[in-house]
Amino acid sequence: MSVVPKSAMAILKVSRLGHPVLRRVTQPLSLEQLRSAPTQRLIDDMIETMKEYDGVGLAADQVHESQQIAVLEVADNPRYPDKPKVPLTVLVNPRVTPLGEEIEEDWEGCLSIPDLRGRVPRYKSVRIQAWDRDGKEMDFVAKDFHARVIQHEWDHLNGKVYLDRMRDFSTLGFLQEFARYWLNA
Ligand code: NI
Repeated sequence: MSVVPKSAMAILKVSRLGHPVLRRVTQPLSLEQLRSAPTQRLIDDMIETMKEYDGVGLAADQVHESQQIAVLEVADNPRYPDKPKVPLTVLVNPRVTPLGEEIEEDWEGCLSIPDLRGRVPRYKSVRIQAWDRDGKEMDFVAKDFHARVIQHEWDHLNGKVYLDRMRDFSTLGFLQEFARYWLNA
């Protein structure tokens, strides 16, 4: 239910670490709010913004809107070239529940923490209950990188960033050094 023609979409300014909006717990939406033209427009703009900056996910507070909306997509992404694809998904008012105790550590970055990468432990498998952009109920299981992206965005909606989840900062580094010293190690 995209009500905005593509030409009218906008690339939004991304909030960076230190902006208080990233540390606030976001607000859930009513069906009426979700289906309103401004919210549908926001979702279109979030998708556009995520694609523009080669993100695999974006939460609404990353574009200064403290609402429980996240978008994700893993396609041919130069920031994550080796990852399995995930179709474009809009999550509204999501609930994320770990399935099992299994934890996996892998690299993450964040558009709100530019140029850095670090290894973050995440549940390997999670269940997601959410609305889609039309308010239709979704209930699905995500594994591996898909589960990782969802947990990263879920954290954003709860005022957390991936740095909060790192066991220590020994792997934290800049993208250029990551590519040079870690990528093929
Ligand atoms: Ni992020």
